[in-house]
Amino acid sequence: MNVYDAVKKRRTIRKFRQDPLKQEDIMQIIDCARLAPYGANLQPLKFAVITDESKRKELYPLIKYAGYLTDWNPEFEECPPVFIAVLNDTSLKPTAKSECDSGAAVTSMCLAATELGIGSCWLGAIDRAKIKTKLGIDEKYDVAYMLGLGYPAQSGETFDMKDDIKYYFDENGNVHVPKRKLSDIIIDL
Ligand SMILES: Cc1cc2nc3c(=O)[nH]c(=O)nc-3n(C[C@H](O)[C@H](O)[C@H](O)COP(=O)(O)O)c2cc1C
Repeated sequence: MNVYDAVKKRRTIRKFRQDPLKQEDIMQIIDCARLAPYGANLQPLKFAVITDESKRKELYPLIKYAGYLTDWNPEFEECPPVFIAVLNDTSLKPTAKSECDSGAAVTSMCLAATELGIGSCWLGAIDRAKIKTKLGIDEKYDVAYMLGLGYPAQSGETFDMKDDIKYYFDENGNVHVPKRKLSDIIIDL
């Protein structure tokens, strides 16, 4: 799969099959975060893999999915079987300054996952303080984001946005995501 195809194919997936992922695939995905661009090449991010069911059950109430589907959250059995906690090492960079680093790293991981046929859900609506405590994360790390990974149990596609930015699930539970048209985001100077 070339990069453009991966960019087009990648959609946020919020319903997952529970089959485990191959360890080598998880490591390849994290390797792509390792190789991502970092401001001043400080590389402040560390990555923790969570697959243990009891830990995932503890995470379940601390994560909010699909903010536009206000009364919807996946059942636990639809949640990602793998989470990667993206941690900012505050001894290397203040967390307030590592937002773009996280963005580049998570994007790289999502695209790598797409190529492997693995769905991803970038999670920012999370209770960072509680996640840090529940997972016993060392004081020097801040939770930047969680990334949910797993084989998709729904499909996703984009359509040209008219006037509403809200994505929706269709009758089959598949996600449709409005994107602004290319001509709408090009500014002539
Ligand atoms: C910084 C950031 C935080 C996000 N947090 C969440 C989240 O907490 N829960 C969720 O369901 N999706 C989350 N998303 C996914 C977005 O909702 C999704 O990218 C957007 O709806 C566009 O869909 P697409 O990823 O399929 O293009 C997040 C995305 C980004 C970039």
